[in-house]
Amino acid sequence: MRKPIIAGNWKMNKTPAEAAELIAALKPLVKGAEAQVIVCVPAVAIPSAVKAAKGSRIKVGAQNVHYEASGAFTGEISAQMLVEAGVTYAIVGHSERRQYFAETDATVNLRARAALKAGLIPIICVGEKKEERENGYTDILVTYQTLMALHGMTEEEVKSVIIAYEPVWAIGTGLTATDEQANETIGVIRKAVAENYGRRAANAVRIQYGGSMKPNNVKGLMAQSEIDGGLIGGASLSAEDFARIVNFRE
Ligand code: 13P
Repeated sequence: MRKPIIAGNWKMNKTPAEAAELIAALKPLVKGAEAQVIVCVPAVAIPSAVKAAKGSRIKVGAQNVHYEASGAFTGEISAQMLVEAGVTYAIVGHSERRQYFAETDATVNLRARAALKAGLIPIICVGEKKEERENGYTDILVTYQTLMALHGMTEEEVKSVIIAYEPVWAIGTGLTATDEQANETIGVIRKAVAENYGRRAANAVRIQYGGSMKPNNVKGLMAQSEIDGGLIGGASLSAEDFARIVNFRE
């Protein structure tokens, strides 16, 4: 059985002080949760988020990580820097990074592997655009993105990563993939893992759904056999809404 894992992606929201406030409000609401809880905060809010999350089950994640250990990469943050700051997870390959910051499947792979090497767990995002789904390319696309992101990893490493299936057309739009669509595409991703890294890796790897996941649709999505959790944008900025998603069984 895979443990459910619910992660908030705050994107470019919340100052350090606001981050501490939001986590303080969240803490009592997710106390008894069965799911693993992560908040991926802006880089400058990491220290205050880590401090605020102390003594709780909430883990702090970053929203990206660079693939080199150090050097002339203005504006980037290394995996070791994140580890020292108290971070345990790092999103890589979010569609907004791919779309607005020209990140490629190749750099997503480098970032994910650098994260693992430093002891961070990467949350690897894959997902198709609207026209790719309409043209029938969803399965090919997510398979390709997944295999490119995992390239060069060992079976053990693949078991430990988290994959987030985020259809681009469902992000921030209020449009959600139906329970069946999300389950089917996540099944395709798991099949690609099974064919390339074995059944054990495929059974262990946790795959989240992301894209307008809200308190009112989380139950149906989480009831699907292939869906192990959620990567939540907008609804993770409210302690109440995010807690209702974390406590999806109640
Ligand atoms: P929304 O939940 O706002 O659609 O964002 C999803 C997302 O991009 C999480 O990474």
